[in-house]
Amino acid sequence: MRSEHVIGGTAMSVSAKFELNEHQVDMPVKDGTIGPSVVDIAKLYGQTGMFTFDPGFTSTASCESKITYIDGDEGILLHRGYPIEQLAENGDFLETCYLLLYGELPTAAQKADFVHHITRHTMVHEQMMRFFQGFRRDAHPMAVMVASVGALSAFYHDSTDISDPTQRMIASMRMVAKMPTLAAMAYKYSIGQPFVYPQNDLDYTSNFLRMCFAVPCEDYQVNPVLSKALDRIFILHADHEQNASTSTVRLAGSSGANPFACIAAGIACLWGPAHGGANEAALKMLEEIGTVDRIPQFIARAKDKNDPFRLMGFGHRVYKNYDPRAKIMQKTTHDVLKAVGSKDPLLDVAVELERIALTDEYFVERKLYPNIDFYSGITLKAMGFPTSMFTVLFALARTVGWIAQWKEMIEDPGQKIGRPRQLYTGYAKREYVPTNKR
Ligand code: SDX
Repeated sequence: MRSEHVIGGTAMSVSAKFELNEHQVDMPVKDGTIGPSVVDIAKLYGQTGMFTFDPGFTSTASCESKITYIDGDEGILLHRGYPIEQLAENGDFLETCYLLLYGELPTAAQKADFVHHITRHTMVHEQMMRFFQGFRRDAHPMAVMVASVGALSAFYHDSTDISDPTQRMIASMRMVAKMPTLAAMAYKYSIGQPFVYPQNDLDYTSNFLRMCFAVPCEDYQVNPVLSKALDRIFILHADHEQNASTSTVRLAGSSGANPFACIAAGIACLWGPAHGGANEAALKMLEEIGTVDRIPQFIARAKDKNDPFRLMGFGHRVYKNYDPRAKIMQKTTHDVLKAVGSKDPLLDVAVELERIALTDEYFVERKLYPNIDFYSGITLKAMGFPTSMFTVLFALARTVGWIAQWKEMIEDPGQKIGRPRQLYTGYAKREYVPTNKR
């Protein structure tokens, strides 16, 4: 029950009353700028001896944040208050990076200074080349990214003192700047081609495309349409509130671990097919379906509780409306396919699958709309990336969101180590049984 105290006509909710057995407990209610209020249950255990229970955190706010706001019912995504559609339409990825890290859109001078610093942190320590030699060539690039990003802390001891604001910002810039270089190295290593060094006269995303697709034997010209499209894809993936990988980064950071290790933990979590691995899984699903006439049998499998098959790229824990990023992604797909002059038959399968899913009662009832991963696979494949690189690109873009959320957590004066409790359903205490009596 929620008690409200009205001051001057504005309802200011102050507490939620809980009746637990003989306990009557008042918990303070906190209101945000927009979006759901929260019941602060920090004192619940102390007052009642009971925990709350919320596996998957479907109704739990883990922190207070000013970075990203999502309204799943309305399909709204704001970064520091700016709609994703406007950021994707009017700005570029490094502008969004500045906004997420500093909280405001940069002036022209601030943007130029930020780009200058990012550009001059794009090289990695030359020893990293030897680090890569330890991997099998057929290692999944995400495995390489988890390891190599974690290894960055072995090279940059001068920016791992998280109590120093200057070192926190240097580490943040280094992470944003070096991810494209490491991602391109992971790709080159997997195809047996030599690494390509960053080139400072290129913009962030063109530099990445060149490091991926240039070879020493000939000049490489970046296609500006593809660079602009990939830069927009990076904007769409930059941050997304307290998703699984961001929560992983926050929890790792809450122990005081260095930022490189925390980002490596985020990459590991993103790899899962239910999260960032869905773009790779979605394309594999479209390839398995193959043709439009085979869609009905896969729709039936997706509905079958006894079949683990799910429509990858559909559904979302928060969005119960169309993922606003998916709409922009779909348009980008058409731009890229036109630029490369290819007509991917899988796009026909994707469009028909979406049409059916948006009319089928099972998906409509469960509000399962396409999410950002549904179209990204087709787009990245058209750009020339192998399926195994899709989640690497997601991690590249999400690094700025992870690091911004990590900084916000570290700079929160109320920050403490995260340590959830549990509902224990195992054995109560019992005596040890010697082997000869078992
Ligand atoms: C990302 O959190 C974020 O913000 C993530 C992300 C980000 O930017 O960080 O947006 C990126 O991870 C996007 C999501 C990518 N994952 C996929 O596309 C994988 C396929 N989607 C599902 O695995 C699922 O929809 C989740 C994991 C995304 C969400 O799962 P929930 O919220 O836990 O929902 P649920 O599993 O409880 O499903 C609710 C119902 C169930 O049916 P019932 O038991 O109620 O009968 O919907 C069904 C599910 O079986 N369902 C699906 C389905 N997704 C959910 N059925 C078929 N196909 C699907 N894709």
